Amino acid sequence: MSGAEGWKRTHYCASLGIAEVGKEVTLMGWAHRRRDHGGLIFIDLRDREGITQVVFDPSISQDAHARAEAVRSEYVLAVQGKVRRRPEGMENPNLQTGAIEVAVHKVCVLNTAKTPPFPLEEEVDVSENLRLRYRYLDLRRQNMVANFRRRHQAASVIRRYLEENGFWEIETPFLTKSTPEGARDYLVPSRLNPGRFYALPQSPQLFKQLLMVAGMDRYYQIVRCFRDEDLRADRQPEFTQVDMELSFITEENVYVLVEKMMSRLFQEVLGVSPDIPFPCLSYHEALARFGTDKPDMRFGLELCDVSSLVAGSQCKVFADVVARGGVVKALPVRTAYDFSRKELDDLTQFVGQYGAKGLAWIKIKTEGWQSPIAKFFSDEEKKAIGEALDLHAGDIVFFVADTMATACQALSELRLHLAGRLNLIPEGDFRFVWIKDFPLLEYDAEEKRYVAVHHPFTAPVTGDIDKLKASPGEVRARAYDLVLNGVEIGGGSIRIHQTEVQQKVFEALGIGEEAQDKFGFLLEALEMGAPPHGGIAFGLDRLLMLMCGRSTIRDVIAFPKTQKAVCLLTEAPSSVSMTQLAELYLKPDWHLE
Ligand code: AMO
Ligand code: AMP
Repeated sequence: MSGAEGWKRTHYCASLGIAEVGKEVTLMGWAHRRRDHGGLIFIDLRDREGITQVVFDPSISQDAHARAEAVRSEYVLAVQGKVRRRPEGMENPNLQTGAIEVAVHKVCVLNTAKTPPFPLEEEVDVSENLRLRYRYLDLRRQNMVANFRRRHQAASVIRRYLEENGFWEIETPFLTKSTPEGARDYLVPSRLNPGRFYALPQSPQLFKQLLMVAGMDRYYQIVRCFRDEDLRADRQPEFTQVDMELSFITEENVYVLVEKMMSRLFQEVLGVSPDIPFPCLSYHEALARFGTDKPDMRFGLELCDVSSLVAGSQCKVFADVVARGGVVKALPVRTAYDFSRKELDDLTQFVGQYGAKGLAWIKIKTEGWQSPIAKFFSDEEKKAIGEALDLHAGDIVFFVADTMATACQALSELRLHLAGRLNLIPEGDFRFVWIKDFPLLEYDAEEKRYVAVHHPFTAPVTGDIDKLKASPGEVRARAYDLVLNGVEIGGGSIRIHQTEVQQKVFEALGIGEEAQDKFGFLLEALEMGAPPHGGIAFGLDRLLMLMCGRSTIRDVIAFPKTQKAVCLLTEAPSSVSMTQLAELYLKPDWHLE
């Protein structure tokens, strides 16, 4: 099968153009497509960089032509030939190398291939399970190659930027103790320490803080994190963070550093320049205006609270909800589109998925309100609502009356849904927004205690520390999230560096002893001259998903897992032998269905 001994590849397929016409070249790659035109055989030869058409002409080499006849899709070939211009009218403007072709005089089939289980042309839709089962074939598809090229470029720009800004790349352990990011841990039993377990890190949080105590000043790592949680399009059990931590800084330093990094990243990789500085919203403002702390800022459609305007009305569904302490939130949509009754019923069902008990609507017509609830409002009430929402003929307003949380969630989802449906989202637009002033703690009704919104080492706003005892829910955190196009791509905070403050926060969380047991080493370190410090971590997969215009992070992860955390290629997780279990002092005692 060989015969290519001593051959040396001279070019990548995509690197050939008019400048190479007349040159002798050696290419190696896969037979992407083969067309037999009687006399001539054409093969699109593909490698990582792209495609070149190679031609087998019996008048150039009878032998090469004969060998090409046996070539099938995905055979691996080495060819030697001369670059020539394609005949006039035969150029392919869709191909980078479309003006040339290589007239082959020698070919060697380096390997054959079975017929692939799905076509590798990127245009052909293939079920994701099949793609994941044969991921190495899926990764040959050019759109996937483009994603990984971009991912590589992005990591490289980020590394360069951070190095220029004085960051050191320092690795932290994977076999470690439980970290406090709030998901379930992946545990690893220790053979040498019977009955004891390591936890895979949910993030390097504790270690990066220890590195600051160690005086490393600026740390970064492009690092895998592990979280056993319910999976979604933008959540994988293992994912990659761009993790960083800095000493002697404030929030503003982090904002500026990150804005410059994003700006450089988008400029170098995509050739677009997002506006900096990024706008900033408080958590409460984000909830009030968009119903979510991850607002998509690429379009308008803002929510409005009309509780006070409808509380006294004859509209019972609204008035009752307000009387019970709930809210009525409105989503005015300025559109010429006239929703049919059926479409409005579908939208009601849509918000029902998020717990809304109904969806009231009002169409604003030149002759007045058209709505099943219009009759419950007096002219004054209509006027007040019309002014508050700035309503004009043609608009339609949607209302959800419910608890704050449900009304916000239902309408924020409806906002996204309508934006897509009404084509309000501009292509290729990247809108960043910082969200800050998160509450430090929130009450967990199940656990009957306050829990950390971020993690328990996040510093409270200095002026709020005194409220930790009396009104813990009002304490603001020095935390920030970065949101891009409605996706949370990063989060971080200024940390607590003083033991007294840390102790107060633990008291408010009601976890004094537990904290000592879990994070005693960090508390001890804080007493050994911990500098003021803070940091942030980005979800690299989510960032790349957005930069590649994809709707799931699986498309930018080489070997991702399914929603059930299964790798369809290797079939992990799999069962292990009793001997292996015994070595780890594990006794199976489960009952599988
Ligand atoms: P956080 O938990 O917010 O912060 O994580 C940082 C970012 O990581 C991404 N991310 C994920 N991406 C894919 N799959 C997942 N399961 C997943 N979980 C999180 C998100 C998120 O914004 N130690 C802190 C950071 C700090 O305080 O400096 C941390 O891990 O984009
Ligand atoms: P009903 O009086 O139950 O027929 O409801 C009148 C209108 O109010 C219908 O369009 C319902 O979809 C809507 N509606 C009912 N409950 C709510 C709610 N909690 N929030 C918003 N609209 C609601």
